[in-house]
Amino acid sequence: MGASGSGKSTVLHVLGAMDIPDRGAVEYEKRDLFGLRRSPRRAYCDRDVGIVFQFYHLLPELNASWNVLIARPAPSCR
Ligand SMILES: Nc1ncnc2c1ncn2[C@@H]1O[C@H](COP(=O)(O)OP(=O)(O)O)[C@@H](O)[C@H]1O
Ligand SMILES: [Mg+2]
Repeated sequence: MGASGSGKSTVLHVLGAMDIPDRGAVEYEKRDLFGLRRSPRRAYCDRDVGIVFQFYHLLPELNASWNVLIARPAPSCR
């Protein structure tokens, strides 16, 4: 929760590896997601995190469960 502009969307984008933080670290299972190597982040995107957008990037022909399960396009992983 927070006021508009306080950074809610930004923190979700960073946690979803859709945005790269200018500083600080995101640690997941003892790995730094934004460390020097990109491969831990790609594995995280492929296997560990799913993203459901509130208003877009949903496929209307699929139900909610399938929208959660569907593979994430690789380019959306920073
Ligand atoms: N930790 C931060 N440091 C600097 N700028 C930030 C930070 N978090 C968010 N911002 C900036 O503040 C603005 C609003 O952030 P946003 O995540 O859209 O807020 P919210 O979703 O809470 O309304 C954006 O321009 C974003 O880049
Ligand atoms: Mg927002």
